[in-house]
Amino acid sequence: MPTIDTRFEFASGLIREAGTLALGYFNRFETLEVKSKGVQDMASEADIETEKLIEKAIRSVFPMDAFLGEESADSFVPDPGKGTWVIDPIDGTQPFVNGIASWCVAIAFVDKGRVQFGLVYDPCRDELFAAQSGGGATLNGRPISPSQATGLEDGLVSVGYSNRVTPPETLEPLTRMLENKGMYHRSGSGALSLAYVAAGRLIGYFEPHMNSWDYVAGLALIEEAGGRINDCLPNEQALVRGGLVLAGAPGIYDELTSVLLDE
Ligand code: IPD
Ligand code: CA
Ligand code: CA
Repeated sequence: MPTIDTRFEFASGLIREAGTLALGYFNRFETLEVKSKGVQDMASEADIETEKLIEKAIRSVFPMDAFLGEESADSFVPDPGKGTWVIDPIDGTQPFVNGIASWCVAIAFVDKGRVQFGLVYDPCRDELFAAQSGGGATLNGRPISPSQATGLEDGLVSVGYSNRVTPPETLEPLTRMLENKGMYHRSGSGALSLAYVAAGRLIGYFEPHMNSWDYVAGLALIEEAGGRINDCLPNEQALVRGGLVLAGAPGIYDELTSVLLDE
């Protein structure tokens, strides 16, 4: 049986290969075939082909593992007896198809109810964020840590939104944050934003509903960097259903919870 280390090493190479493929499509974004999956939700040929590359590589080397990728998620059946690769081939498809360099590839491995490692790769900046359980979090090999912020006024909190929730579910917390000296940011890539929280570039991230492939890599990064994040992987079902995500620097996490979740 392959070890977690073996899988982590493999994923570190594969994510760069996948990012290079996606970057080729990004460089000709005006010509991409894009199909709508719902309001403000889409997949381009780049999303499909990048996921295919990742899935084929993982299935050929680790046939004993389960695979959950955004573009083929409908066929996923959870199997608690197996480790699961959780993939978003392109997170930030909306910016990607519009030529905005704010997207990434996300790969994580979940086993025994916990995320074992997470990787987020931004090919436009050649930035690889990586974390393995118990091994710390790095950016291009150098250790990262969250912001030293002690109040909402000390930085930017990224706020995500999708058609899976209603506008008030986002606007009410957002209003409370602005009333409490906070400032919002939205890049269009939740996975990359979570990596930025781990690296101290953002002081927090909030989204009322994310899918697991949007956040499990970031969960590993934030936990290993020393940030705080809610229990967004409470059981196997969370891989299928997703849920609310609130992450932040340790010095402001309690304030984020009280302001954004009104608790
Ligand atoms: C979306 C992005 C966005 C977040 C949405 C996601 P996609 O993923 O991460 O920032 O707010 O919840 O669905 O569609 O670009 O892979
Ligand atoms: Ca996504
Ligand atoms: Ca995606």
